[in-house]
Amino acid sequence: MNSFSFLLANRRSMRKFTEEKLTEEQKKTILRAALISPTAKNNRGWEFITVEDPDALRKLSLSREMGSGFLAEAVFAVVVLGKSAENDCWVEDCSIAAIDMQLQAEDLGLGSCWCHMRGRANAEGKPTRQTIAEMFGVPEEYEPLCIVGFGHKNMERKPYEDGKIDWSKVHKGRF
Ligand SMILES: Cc1cc2nc3c(=O)[nH]c(=O)nc-3n(C[C@H](O)[C@H](O)[C@H](O)COP(=O)(O)O)c2cc1C
Repeated sequence: MNSFSFLLANRRSMRKFTEEKLTEEQKKTILRAALISPTAKNNRGWEFITVEDPDALRKLSLSREMGSGFLAEAVFAVVVLGKSAENDCWVEDCSIAAIDMQLQAEDLGLGSCWCHMRGRANAEGKPTRQTIAEMFGVPEEYEPLCIVGFGHKNMERKPYEDGKIDWSKVHKGRF
């Protein structure tokens, strides 16, 4: 395993994937990362829907007006949902689960990208929440935050360079 600092700098959003499928072990390892991620008050209120069917991935790629096209190329995707009305930290809980899956994928040498779903709609104005509920039979109380698409990398992405980090974002003691 690479060092964690190396992994953080090398995790770049991947939107181009080869056709090679993920192994069952790889998928399980990614989902494990989500299931052991921290949640507020340890509520563990999130749910995850796995998607591998190419037709479903294509449909999801059209579920937003823009920004979701890459899902058509992904070989595996995970819809991350939370109980938006009941859990005031559902966005935080789901976000942490999503990024932990992305970091785990990077550690496996795989690429991934976050596709945002909350509050989005397709080109005809149909909410992504409705599209996802219809496709996967999601109960009313669950709202999708995002879909993370995964696959084998098929695009060159440069790692973050220490020399280009904007340290002015950090305020020592006072903004
Ligand atoms: C909250 C959030 C929403 C994002 N939504 C999308 C999206 O809908 N489509 C997409 O292609 N990338 C999306 N991304 C990926 C960002 O565009 C990407 O992380 C950013 O450009 C920085 O690039 P990097 O991931 O390579 O460091 C999202 C990332 C975050 C954290």
